[in-house]
Amino acid sequence: MTTNTPKSPDKLPDELPDFKVLEASDLAAREAGRVIREGGMVAFPTETVYGLGADASNETALGAIFKIKGRPQFNPLIIHVEDEVQAARIVEFDERAQALALAFWPGALTMVLKRKADANISPLATAGLDTIAVRAPANTVAQALLREAATPIAAPSANRSGYISPTIALHVMMQFKDRQGLNLIIDGGPCAVGVESTIVDLSGKDPVLLRPGGVALEDIEKVIGALQIGKNGGENENVTAPGQLKTHYAPSIALRINVKPEERERGESLLGFGPDMPRRAMLNLSPTGDLSEAAANLFTMMRALDMPGIRGICVVPIPNEGIGRAINDRLRRAATPRSAAGGPPKFHDPIGNIEI
Ligand code: TXA
Ligand code: MG
Repeated sequence: MTTNTPKSPDKLPDELPDFKVLEASDLAAREAGRVIREGGMVAFPTETVYGLGADASNETALGAIFKIKGRPQFNPLIIHVEDEVQAARIVEFDERAQALALAFWPGALTMVLKRKADANISPLATAGLDTIAVRAPANTVAQALLREAATPIAAPSANRSGYISPTIALHVMMQFKDRQGLNLIIDGGPCAVGVESTIVDLSGKDPVLLRPGGVALEDIEKVIGALQIGKNGGENENVTAPGQLKTHYAPSIALRINVKPEERERGESLLGFGPDMPRRAMLNLSPTGDLSEAAANLFTMMRALDMPGIRGICVVPIPNEGIGRAINDRLRRAATPRSAAGGPPKFHDPIGNIEI
């Protein structure tokens, strides 16, 4: 029998994450602000999902974000701002934008607007586009960070490209524990909304919904009138290179949607919604049928069911109204056939190491 030789201590640092984790506090926000100003990378909570932030004017720091996520550089980042005033320094903040900001900022609404010529935002953050996506988050930790950093912060969701967005700090740790580049994670607990922001493109004549999200389409339309629905009801396929169709928000096992509980197949676990669900092998997004509660639970429960030994996940129908649109959008993307994403994942990996 061989003895268990301990790993040589000088090898250990390579295997450890190089980030620090701090509980949310004023002190943590100050430190995080310093890290951002000095060109580092901070994962922080927003009310939607955790973001992976860097100084939006710092090309090197932004490069590190694309690298650690494995995100193609043609996919632009959302620029997080403190408020309308900071936003208006970098984009043409027209009347429609002002009306929407008044109604929904700070909050889960991202607006794509024309870039100002003198905006100090790196073209890397915006993939060279003449528009910038801006959002003022409502989470107090995110707000404190933005104040301390004193610069707009570019932040995609803090997951590896293609996997489910993180709604607790632990998700972020699991995704990046073996990767270099992330300096600090601020743990602010679970995200209240749980799905990403709604993205509205206001750069053209007619407003277009690019991604359903935390703010309901119906509520936006009350403020600026009817929206056009972007291709696929969502996320800017137009800035995605041809032939690069990818599964988004996907767990590493198969996921079927609009499945009635009695249609569940052998070996599948069930993601339910509402009362009168079976109790066996299932999680319930909201036993009372509350769509906001379901959104807040969605990604955590998808991750929880992404387990070895489970053949797949099936999800019951979710009402397609209010934040239910965002839930259905994310579920549809998670359920995209693997053939469209370049074949099945090579191995089961609930923390998202799969390349898709
Ligand atoms: O809730 C959220 O929006 C979270 C939190 C962290 O704020 N962020 C987020 O970022 O979901 P990300 O990178 O995962 O998704 C941003 C989406 C991408 O699909 C990107 O293509 C799109 O926004 N986007 C960014 N800038 C754009 C632009 N100028 N025009 C069109 N789409 C844009
Ligand atoms: Mg994302």
